Amino acid sequence: MTRRDPHSYNDDTQVETESLSLRARVDFETRTLHAEATLTFRVPGAGSVDLDTRDLAIDAVVDQRDQLLAFELHPAEPILGSRLSIALPAGTSAIRIRYRTSPDASALQWLEPAQTTGGRLPFLFSQCQAIHARSVVPLQDTPRLRIRYDAELTIPRSLKAVMAAAHCSRSVQGEVAIERYEMPQPIPPYLLAFAVGDLASRELSARSRVWAEPAVLERAEFEFAGVEAMIVVAEALFGPYDWERFDVLTMPPSFPYGGMENPRLTFLTPTVIAGDRSLVNVLAHELAHSWTGNLVTNANAEHFWLNEGFTVYAERRIIEALDGPEVASLHAALGRRTLDESIARFEHRPELTRLRTRLTGIDPDDAYSQVPYQKGYFFLKTLEAAVGRDVFTQWLRSYLDAFRFGSITTEDFEAHFERALPGVLAKVEAKRWIDGEGLPETAPRPQSERLDAIERLAGALPADAVARLWSPTEWQLYLESIARPASEDQCRALDERFALTRSTNFEVLVAWLVLALQSGYHRVVPRVEEVLGAVGRMKFLRPLYLALARDERTRPLANSLFERLRAGYHPIARQVVESVLRESADRAPS
Ligand code: BES
Ligand code: ZN
Repeated sequence: MTRRDPHSYNDDTQVETESLSLRARVDFETRTLHAEATLTFRVPGAGSVDLDTRDLAIDAVVDQRDQLLAFELHPAEPILGSRLSIALPAGTSAIRIRYRTSPDASALQWLEPAQTTGGRLPFLFSQCQAIHARSVVPLQDTPRLRIRYDAELTIPRSLKAVMAAAHCSRSVQGEVAIERYEMPQPIPPYLLAFAVGDLASRELSARSRVWAEPAVLERAEFEFAGVEAMIVVAEALFGPYDWERFDVLTMPPSFPYGGMENPRLTFLTPTVIAGDRSLVNVLAHELAHSWTGNLVTNANAEHFWLNEGFTVYAERRIIEALDGPEVASLHAALGRRTLDESIARFEHRPELTRLRTRLTGIDPDDAYSQVPYQKGYFFLKTLEAAVGRDVFTQWLRSYLDAFRFGSITTEDFEAHFERALPGVLAKVEAKRWIDGEGLPETAPRPQSERLDAIERLAGALPADAVARLWSPTEWQLYLESIARPASEDQCRALDERFALTRSTNFEVLVAWLVLALQSGYHRVVPRVEEVLGAVGRMKFLRPLYLALARDERTRPLANSLFERLRAGYHPIARQVVESVLRESADRAPS
């Protein structure tokens, strides 16, 4: 037997699931899904099959003829969860599992009405990447095995369910509504996704609509109005869009990520709604995953850079086509800065700064960083520079074509590239990128006139006439370029002249709040508390809690705030803040 994915009990000598049929009743009272999952195998099996589960209560397992099957739910292991081992009589073509989820299911966040914008109705959403699908459905939770599915969700009739799949029907029966979906294209299990809440929608184009709570809908519609133009540009670059629809779901503020590329229904944090479309690169990123990630998928989390590095590359190609090379290189410049910081953060775990990682015994949520994103991007830019843009683009299309609806490893990528463009990998020393730690000195430095102008300021206050012309990205770059600690005078001047504490652009606001906290400018603390209470996006929680916790004057506040707010954070975000606070406590002088 071989386990080809360090994060799954899947044994590659056993049967493979071809499709999933899921029926679930969503019970907000007990925060439970009462569910039934039917797994149909590619070919009938015998012996046994091992499924991944986490915190599931298994009630019964039967075969395609409704015959009870013996099963054993093994004790939970820290990262993988519990192996569900099911005995298969010869010729078993399908199994049906009756089960319940736990109120603490790691893929689910159940929100009280008070945690929504409307404040009247509860909300539920899933976030399965990387290995949380197993807390919602017992299955072979490895992206190596793609599945088609259909689903039926029974929900309170006052709510609407959406799913990353084609909607088939909604029927109301008494107090409940039953919504049916179908996902005809085979997906890795981490792309299984749904949400239930007070949701309404607006058409953005013939193949795209935006969903949101009614109170947010209009602002979301404005912010994402450019989606069709993005799809058109992306198709010209990467080939036809293969998922029919591209809808967007505006998530509640506690959504822990910026976006999640759930097929046909991208999930986006409301913090990208800045009112001026300045943060829609997140939308471009999730759209780009429709090719890189969803069509061609990492076979397991050790090859995560194939998803994210390629997608950042594709995202910046879209941005370049729409907004020009100067804007794209500003984004690349931000990416370079983030990369340097991430590599520094992993000073004590440098092996996690490789593109190809070894993750046996490591939780993908702990390994998560910007390294696969930005180092992957710069590696692909290096290959692009070596062969020229046109040749590289052609290669990219042939790669997408070759592995369409497939799950691949770094070795598959290397072999494909080598066959198409022999000798180039060796010439750019690809091994150092892929298996080396940190960043090769030859890594490209993004060139940008606007960035140079910001750097020439060396942190000095910009003239009003200059600052007025800055985009939010330039503001962010400028704020991040200021040496810490900044003087109190400088902080005050910045805030008085540019009203940064009142900024409604979350990227600018958080860059400013972090600078202020790191400079001991404590007048921003009430606003920091407000932000930490209002949003759960990890990208913002991490630096803000870190800045609070690193200063002994604000460390107690970091701890008390987290105690007060933790219940409202997503389980994954809670873990991240806990580790930030733990690390800061360890570093604190006793
Ligand atoms: N697929 C990721 C989010 C993710 C990764 C969730 C790993 C769980 C595990 C998504 O496409 C993403 O990269 N989001 C970024 C957006 C960005 C790079 C523009 C984010 O959330 O910050
Ligand atoms: Zn991504």
